[in-house]
Amino acid sequence: MDGFLASQVVRWQALFGRHDLPWQNTRDPYRVWLSEIMLQQTQVTTVQAYFARFLARFADVQALAQAPLDEVLHLWAGLGYYSRARNLHRCAQDVVSLHGGAFPRTAQQLQTLPGIGRSTAAAIAALCFGERVAILDGNVKRVLTRYLGFADDLALASNERRLWEQATQLLPTDHLLHNMARYTQGMMDLGAGLCSTRNPACPVCPLVERCVAQAVGAPEKFPLKTRKLKRSVESIWLLWAVADEGAVWLSQRPTPGVWAGLYCLPLFEDRQALQLALAPSNTELLQDVPAFKHVLTHKDLYLHPVLLRLQGRHTLALEGQWFGAAQMAQLGLPAPIKKMLEAGKSCGSDHSRSDLP
Ligand code: ADE
Repeated sequence: MDGFLASQVVRWQALFGRHDLPWQNTRDPYRVWLSEIMLQQTQVTTVQAYFARFLARFADVQALAQAPLDEVLHLWAGLGYYSRARNLHRCAQDVVSLHGGAFPRTAQQLQTLPGIGRSTAAAIAALCFGERVAILDGNVKRVLTRYLGFADDLALASNERRLWEQATQLLPTDHLLHNMARYTQGMMDLGAGLCSTRNPACPVCPLVERCVAQAVGAPEKFPLKTRKLKRSVESIWLLWAVADEGAVWLSQRPTPGVWAGLYCLPLFEDRQALQLALAPSNTELLQDVPAFKHVLTHKDLYLHPVLLRLQGRHTLALEGQWFGAAQMAQLGLPAPIKKMLEAGKSCGSDHSRSDLP
């Protein structure tokens, strides 16, 4: 181990890496943590706007810890994977109550907090405190397995463990406060840029002269992971009840489950169940709206809205309550539901056309 990878990545990051992302040029663990959680499953360009809104509303970890969960979910709406938002809130509360408002400074301690896994803990500890710990997210796995020619299947935990060990051995060994931050950001930048899944830009890569995958002419073959996501398909019927002045009947989704904690139209397994939940006089008023597909990580959801227009604001025999437009704007709603309600409003509640998401 002669430090080639570490020194090349550090130098390359300084010259060609990203330096102007809103969560860079700081060692504030609150900002770095918030960005890393948002970036776990969401692209940089999307995260930027959310990151700015979160910081404007919650300037520090205390402000976030004190906020009602509903408000956090509302600001998170659209980023998806809402368990991240619930963990974010719990994590802020734990930092305040268990650590006196200061994030722990080691990856090992950071990992004990909600929503912070091994790689995220390492990113925070390396970027903020210069700890010599390795990150291994999808991008970094690609860079490392290619560089090392690591051909073993990462679906096997023992192989993944060996890759973590090698990742740790390859880390910088001196000037850690400076080099660990540069190196960590550099590995992310390489993975997100040059070392792409298809068509990696090998000729301009700082690692090309020692990259095994490039030497054997097959960078796209790495990393190897055999386990495929088993995707399923599910249909859900939504009762879209609208009362006077456009008020909509919503209830908070239970935890755990899809959209836990968010406000949503009442959901049913099939149309008959939806009908049975209503008074017979209401079922005659039901109007089917064209179904649309919403893609989640593990399943394709087919959403079948059924519209019920009512006079007045009589309470339905269902969990939930009426929310007017202004109130609704304060709630966290699943993105596809929000889009659907907005499309419904803008086309004058003429739901017979299929101009929905
Ligand atoms: N993805 C995960 N962490 C990141 C970071 N700090 N910068 C850019 N992309 C990232």
